[in-house]
Order: sequence, then structure tokens, then C-alpha cells
Amino acid sequence: MTTTPVYPETRYMGSKEKLTARIMETAAEFGKDVFVDVFSGSGVVAHAAKRHGYAVHTNDYLRFCATYTKAMVENSSERLSDELVERLVAHPDPGDGFVERTYTDIFYHRTDTRAIDRIRTGIRELGLSEYEAAIAVSGLVRACLKKRPRGIFTYTGLRYDDGRRDLRLSIEEHFRIQVAKVNAAVFDNGRRSYSTNLDFRELEVPENAILYLDPPYYSPVSDNQYVRRYHFVEGLSREWRDVEMQPHTKTRKFANFPTPFSTQNGTLEALREILSAHPGNDVILSYSSNSLPTKEELVELFIQVGRTVRVAEVNHRYSFSTREKTTRNQVKEYLFTSPGV
Ligand SMILES: C[S@@+](CC[C@H](N)C(=O)[O-])C[C@H]1O[C@@H](n2cnc3c(N)ncnc32)[C@H](O)[C@@H]1O
Repeated sequence: MTTTPVYPETRYMGSKEKLTARIMETAAEFGKDVFVDVFSGSGVVAHAAKRHGYAVHTNDYLRFCATYTKAMVENSSERLSDELVERLVAHPDPGDGFVERTYTDIFYHRTDTRAIDRIRTGIRELGLSEYEAAIAVSGLVRACLKKRPRGIFTYTGLRYDDGRRDLRLSIEEHFRIQVAKVNAAVFDNGRRSYSTNLDFRELEVPENAILYLDPPYYSPVSDNQYVRRYHFVEGLSREWRDVEMQPHTKTRKFANFPTPFSTQNGTLEALREILSAHPGNDVILSYSSNSLPTKEELVELFIQVGRTVRVAEVNHRYSFSTREKTTRNQVKEYLFTSPGV
């Protein structure tokens, strides 16, 4: 008997976990069989597209996001065996000890920072295949997020410790649970899918593909900086390579990666750039009512680049709060749908 692949639950900022059915319904109207998720984030939409039979190309400029989809979307057959999980958990060598040295008592106690160092060293040293390593890194990232109150790295210490079971389990215990969840998401839909870790401008898009755009939502009153929130797990996924560490910050973070989505105009121009670069592609754009540009400005943008567009509104409650606590339950999520020209 085959079981339906389930994507692990996510608290990722802006995750469309609750909107995947709606997005898939909208995509089906185009009658295409290739789906490109340009800003894949948690990977939950890309995985839904794979379940719906598409050949999926996922992309995100964050390495840990691209690693999730390497493990659970591009990978169609490999799982990380229990034996390898136990060898990773028991790996004795902490390697460079970077996590223990840099983050002890900042995000975790020493037993956990040491365990993270041992497992990450094991992932490098035990000769894992590309997909086994992607599953192991995804499991370790998810373990670190689970063991962190609120699943973010913008504050230090163990504030918000509400005694939840998640905070009591060791990193090793979380790792076993999370690898099992990642393994359970692996399946084959008979198509070849890909995961890339690029800036959206570098992405190659096949002509017959549906482009799904879910960029960071800009708002002057809340912060959409993914790197600031998730720097620890991003660093872990890329072994803190190619980042500009800011060693004197309280959270030992690194500099944000440049992205146009940190301003209103930058967002508008970036979307113009994508739409203009791919005139023939059917497009679905997610955006929210409490962000800028406004719905009207976005509609105008589609018209300016010579497209027609339809807007659907979905009431949506984000699983992740923003700073505007009063409005967060009333947010509408827009789905802009535009056929290629
Ligand atoms: C709203 S989230 C996507 C959420 C996703 N659809 C989900 O359901 O989890 C936006 C994503 O855009 C990514 N991003 C931001 N700037 C980017 C850029 N310049 N190129 C590629 N990805 C970028 C962020 O890392 C983030 O994961």
C-alpha cells in the first residue's frame, strides 16, 4: 500500500500552507504541466504542485529553503536510513566547533550547540549522497527551528520558553523526528523536478511553465527580512560560507542578502522585471492586502506590461504574526492570475 506524501508542517513567515488547494485550483485553469515556484520559501506550494503531477522547478535565494526542496521536491526516491540517522546522532567529532563557540547561551544550551556541531560535521564526513545530505540538513534545520521558541533568531536567550515539549526535547531527539517527517514527504510523480538557490533574476524559466510568484511582502510597519529572522539556520545550511558575519551583534547574525523587496518601489520594479522577462508565461502572483504596492498598483503594472489580469481575494490568517497585531487576522490574500501573451 502506498501512503500519500505529506509535507512537514511549517511556521515559515509568509507560508502558503493553508492556500495550496486554492493555488492549485487556479493553476489547473492554465492546463500546463510545468510549475515554477520562483520564491519557494518553506517549499509547501512546490510540494503541492508536485503532488498535482507537475514537473516543478523551485527556487529561493535562501539556502535552507532550497535545501528543503532539494530533499522533498527534486529528490524523488532517496531517504535517509535509520542507520545513517543514528550514525549522525552518535558522531563524536564536533569539527570546527563553530556553533558551540558562537551560539552557546545565545540560542541554545551547550549540550545542544555541541550536538549541532557533531551532526553537521557528520553530514560532511559520513559520505552521504547529495539527497541524503539534503534530507539530513533539512532535518537538522527543522530540529533547530523546533527547539527555538517562536522558531526565529531575532532575539537571544530562552525568552518565551513556555515549557512546551518541543523545548524540552534534545536536538538529537528532534533530529530523529524531523528526518522521519522529511523522509515521509519524498515521492515520485513520474516527472523530473529541480531545486535551485538563485536570485530570481538568474532563474531560467521554460516557455510552457506556469510562473508562481510569492515574493516577500513589503510593508512600512513590519519587517520582511528573512535573513534577520532565520540567519542561524541559513548559516547552518551554507556552513556560514559567503556571508558577511556581524560578530558584534547580539544574535551573531550576518548581513542581509541584497533584495529589492525591502522597499515599495523596489518590489514594483522587481515584479515589472519578472513580468517583462517572461511575457509568454502564465503567471500567478500572491500578494497581501496589508502590503505595498496596493492591489490597484499591481493591476496597473500587469496592464502596463501588456497583460490581462484577474484578481481573487482569499481571507487568510497568517500562521506567523507581524508587528501589526491588530490587523493580522483581517488580512486578505490576493491571487493575481494572468495568462501569457
Ligand atoms: C513570501 S516568501 C515565500 C513563501 C512560500 N510561498 C511558502 O509558501 O512558504 C518569499 C521568499 O522569497 C525569498 N526571496 C527574497 N528575495 C529573493 C530574491 N532576490 N531571489 C529569490 N528569492 C528571494 C525569501 O527567501 C522567501 O523565502
